[in-house]
Amino acid sequence: MDSVAGKWALVTGASSGFGLEFATLLAQKGANLVLVARRKEPMERMAERLRRDHGIDIVVETLDLSETGAAARLKSRIDARLIHIDVLVNNAGYGLFGNFLDQSVEQLREMLQLNMLAVTELTHLFGREMANRGSGHILFIASLLGYQATPGYAAYAASKAYVLLLGEALNAELKPHGVVVTVLSPGPAATSFAAIASQRNTRMIRMLMMEPAPVVRLGIDSMLRRRSSVVAGLLNKIIVFGNRFTPRTLQRLIMQSAVGG
Ligand SMILES: NC(=O)c1ccc[n+]([C@@H]2O[C@H](COP(=O)([O-])OP(=O)(O)OC[C@H]3O[C@@H](n4cnc5c(N)ncnc54)[C@H](OP(=O)(O)O)[C@@H]3O)[C@@H](O)[C@H]2O)c1
Repeated sequence: MDSVAGKWALVTGASSGFGLEFATLLAQKGANLVLVARRKEPMERMAERLRRDHGIDIVVETLDLSETGAAARLKSRIDARLIHIDVLVNNAGYGLFGNFLDQSVEQLREMLQLNMLAVTELTHLFGREMANRGSGHILFIASLLGYQATPGYAAYAASKAYVLLLGEALNAELKPHGVVVTVLSPGPAATSFAAIASQRNTRMIRMLMMEPAPVVRLGIDSMLRRRSSVVAGLLNKIIVFGNRFTPRTLQRLIMQSAVGG
């Protein structure tokens, strides 16, 4: 397994949910951290604890990654500190639940900018440097919903399909340059995700629900074992595997009923 000890890891969306767990696990493995999100306070609190417990260096950057040019601004701030990022965890993201036509174009644009364009730009900026150095790890967070169209989460699911396909393609493209790209696809997990998406928990969602810590552990382990793509949780894996034998119209009906869309 590869090691992150003494390296610099950048975690986006580090103020809650999976992001807090990614930061904690990477700190336990001895990585120095750059934490990014809009809310400073939860990141500062965690940074204080992790510095004390693990003796690592941590930089907290407050930034709205849905703003145009945010990725480049973040890169400049990190460059100014003479930090080289060895591990990029593209975690920041959120969903919009409900009827597509009830969602404003501005809401959709902001979500797609964060879920797809910020991920693309950060990967381009930091991936190039990693390729020049001949080493690096990039983790993408897609979703179970990225494996089929999902009415009720139409644009969000499509954004995660983009993340899934981009990450899997880049795994092959960047491998010869020494850069590992891994895609982690979680199903429903107990974070702020559902509340922010305005999604109520259906029976199916409750059945699939996982704690964030094992999902994050799987993602980091898979990345350090140089895997290209991994689905978290046995039931989620069965759903994804079952898609191979299910017509696409049926796949989306099943997922629509699962999310209550
Ligand atoms: N939990 C699930 O059920 C689930 C399932 C599949 C995939 N995922 C994916 O997992 C990732 C993490 O989500 P989570 O479940 O941990 O949800 P979460 O608890 O709501 O965390 C989302 C994180 O993204 C950050 N973020 C949101 N908008 C941002 C912006 N404009 N700029 C910078 N940071 C921003 C938030 O920080 P601030 O608000 O402080 O900016 C927060 O730290 C997302 O990509 C999500 O799509 C989640």
